[in-house]
Amino acid sequence: RAIPPRKLVLPELGLSSKQLAVLANVRDDLVFKSAKELDESTRNSATVLTPALIELVCEELNLNVEFSPQTLPLLQDNQLSKDPLHPRMPVVTVMGHVDHGKTSLLDALRKSDVADHEVGGITQNVAAFRVPIDGNNREEAHSKFATFIDTPGHAAFKSMRANGTIATDLVVLVVAADDGVMPQTVEAGNLARAANVPVIVAINKCDMPGADPERVRYQLLESLGINTEQLGGDVQCVDISAKNGTNLPQLLEAISLQAEMLDLKSDPSARGAGICLESRLDRAFGSVATVVVRSGILKPGQHVVFQSPKALRGDLFGRIRSLVDRNGTQLDVVEPGVAAGLIGLRDPIPPGAEFCVEVNEKAARAKSQEMLARNVEATVTIELANSLCAEREEK
Ligand code: GTP
Ligand code: MG
Repeated sequence: RAIPPRKLVLPELGLSSKQLAVLANVRDDLVFKSAKELDESTRNSATVLTPALIELVCEELNLNVEFSPQTLPLLQDNQLSKDPLHPRMPVVTVMGHVDHGKTSLLDALRKSDVADHEVGGITQNVAAFRVPIDGNNREEAHSKFATFIDTPGHAAFKSMRANGTIATDLVVLVVAADDGVMPQTVEAGNLARAANVPVIVAINKCDMPGADPERVRYQLLESLGINTEQLGGDVQCVDISAKNGTNLPQLLEAISLQAEMLDLKSDPSARGAGICLESRLDRAFGSVATVVVRSGILKPGQHVVFQSPKALRGDLFGRIRSLVDRNGTQLDVVEPGVAAGLIGLRDPIPPGAEFCVEVNEKAARAKSQEMLARNVEATVTIELANSLCAEREEK
């Protein structure tokens, strides 16, 4: 007698072969073997398979389980940008191993940002700021700028999904000259590669007595395949000291050059969409989310909805009450490549959540509820798998 397929929501976090096998009511080793064939990094039956891999395995084995995805595309095809012609600012993320000087570098760059010395409003914590990168006098309005992202760790970068919506255009990989390539350097380098984001290397702490930038360049080549210009490759690499400010203009120049090569364009008439880098609760303003706009524009008064596979309760939507820059200055409009603090949400938004503008509150609320329902369903899937696994082990 044929058993009808189980209809389940496929968790964004994936499932192990073991979990998938019990849900489909087949043997573990069949699922594991298929997963291993499709992706050799599958180590054992407890290795978590990505949703994409699970779909392939299900197709291959014709499993008796039907999955619908936990996350949905926020924008329909017809709402995507059609005419990306306007140049936009690059978004630069600084990454690297603990204590190698990421924050010091950002601080040093920020020192050159006159506006930052103004008394901060509510947004001292908006973890993104812009810096002129063309060596121009910063008073000039037509200076070229880059948006630098100042997130602790790389939560937002890590949790972004491989669907083309990436929070950053280029990565500055900071490596301490006295310490060399370390585990998180490798991790950051691999993340950038996986996301297809170009890397510029900043070898920091060159003022230290034990500094050996040349050694770092060989380490980068060996452990990450990052071939710096000094070794004949094409990855730009600048020896700096964040502490003394050494070679920071050269680093900005490298960023500017790389940004020019990327030729970043956007379509301001597209529907506004982007990524949340972080959010925090403010006593007066509720949740303040730092967002980066990737396409279209944001304006106060618009309704936005966020998608986070992790949220199980609360609101993922809100009406934009105001948009502010780092100094608390209200912004009338936020363009692509620009980061801002978004005020008007009730609940915190997890880092890495994507957002888009909705036509009205009703639509935003409906989408938010649908997303939360799917998140809950995904946890139900995992719980079901775990209880079936326990049953199977008992037998
Ligand atoms: P995490 O956020 O913890 O990952 O560290 P980080 O990468 O942001 O490093 P941070 O900027 O906090 O710097 C770590 C330490 O290195 C601090 O004590 C800095 O003063 C020191 N430091 C940073 N840059 C330099 C530099 O160019 N030269 C020297 N000598 N020390 C530096
Ligand atoms: Mg830091």
